[in-house]
Amino acid sequence: LLKLSAGGLAGRVVGGAAGVRWARVPPPFSVPMPVPVEARPVRSTRDADYYRLAAASALAEILPGTRTPVLAYNGAFPGPTIRARAGRRVVVEHVNRLDEPTTVHLHGGAVRPEDDGGPMDLVEPGRARRYRYPNGQRAATLWYHDHAHHLESEHVYRGLAGAYLLHDECEAGLGLPSGRFDVPIVLRDARFGEDGSLVYIPEDFAGRNTILANGRPQPYFRVAARKYRFRLLNAANMRFFKAELSTGDAFQQIATDRGLLPAPLTTTSVPLSPGERADIVVDFSRYAPGARVVLRDGFSTRPSTNGILRFDVCGRVRDGSRVPERLATLPALRPATAAREFRLSMDKKTGMGFINGRAFDPRRIDFTVERGAAETWRIVNENQVIQHNFHVHLADFRVLDRDGGPPMPTEDGLKDTVMVRPGESVGVRVAFDPAFGGDYIYHCHIIDHSAMGMMGRFRITGGG
Ligand code: C2O
Ligand code: CU
Ligand code: CU
Repeated sequence: LLKLSAGGLAGRVVGGAAGVRWARVPPPFSVPMPVPVEARPVRSTRDADYYRLAAASALAEILPGTRTPVLAYNGAFPGPTIRARAGRRVVVEHVNRLDEPTTVHLHGGAVRPEDDGGPMDLVEPGRARRYRYPNGQRAATLWYHDHAHHLESEHVYRGLAGAYLLHDECEAGLGLPSGRFDVPIVLRDARFGEDGSLVYIPEDFAGRNTILANGRPQPYFRVAARKYRFRLLNAANMRFFKAELSTGDAFQQIATDRGLLPAPLTTTSVPLSPGERADIVVDFSRYAPGARVVLRDGFSTRPSTNGILRFDVCGRVRDGSRVPERLATLPALRPATAAREFRLSMDKKTGMGFINGRAFDPRRIDFTVERGAAETWRIVNENQVIQHNFHVHLADFRVLDRDGGPPMPTEDGLKDTVMVRPGESVGVRVAFDPAFGGDYIYHCHIIDHSAMGMMGRFRITGGG
């Protein structure tokens, strides 16, 4: 049986008992940050690439010298990165080698309901399933993760998540940093037991006090003195991150969840709730070789969790990349044909989550949307201390207002997930792609909450 460790022990020992080798969280910035492996297609046709994602138990070296049991796609923690091209289909052949049901959901993907990997559309142990992704949308940083109802929170926590980078021609013509200078950074937190195992306790926000970037604790990353594009993905179950540089220097944000911003945003911080993404460009040419710049979490006040990773600046190199002043044209805001309200609440005593007073019931359709419609949704966090956020499948949206004021500049682009802090109310204009109809879901992406009911289902009807 696993004995749980108390948080914050001296020397950052994560736990221990006589006769047990203690797994240690290393001092910050002492292990290198890997770039997640890229998935290779198992086969390709004229217009499609086929990938195999097998979910199975595996051992991962997260803490140095310790093998931690994880749940992994193709043995990788986090899962392998899929690089897709707009207009070219991806088919994911998912194999479930676990003893619990799974699904694969493409977060941010405009896909048909049968390819959405929703919470009730389960792949049973020992079974396989194909998901088809048309990639008919613009370039964006998407991600895939398990979504099996009640299990998604533990499955994602144990490793079933990976990046899915969608490229297109418009973006390729811009000259942004690319190739090995285009790096996904999958952020999350974790709690380790004394034997180095991942300890999963629902809603264990305080206990998950080790920060992982691409699966390693507070790593360092060697960079050349040039521009890099980093795709920041908050894949944590509950933790909010506010990415900033220890120097206080500004960087450029070039994309939100669903694609490029119209123009780069110069900013010193980007807040990200679970599920949100931001692509940023950091130009290290302004630092002398040898400089060390920490990517910090401005939301964390604890020294043990406020360093995310450290960039170690090496030599100067020629840099042919650029960040043009115009990046993309966003679709015009379409007038709304309906307005809805979503009141999120969590009952502290029972741990149950509700939207408009109701917990998720897979048999219930909460509302219907006209195919291809645009709607105004207001999302309200009724809790006074508990953070929530909101994610809708299929659609993208723009943030209209935050408590009546303007959206944060860092969220003023195409989104599919938005933070809703305690007591806050956020208005969004949701746009549905007329190519898709059927049943989809929406939920709080603090997946310890959605697992406990903070989720609902809607139906897109009419048309096609
Ligand atoms: Cu990240 Cu319902 O998904
Ligand atoms: Cu999603
Ligand atoms: Cu929530």
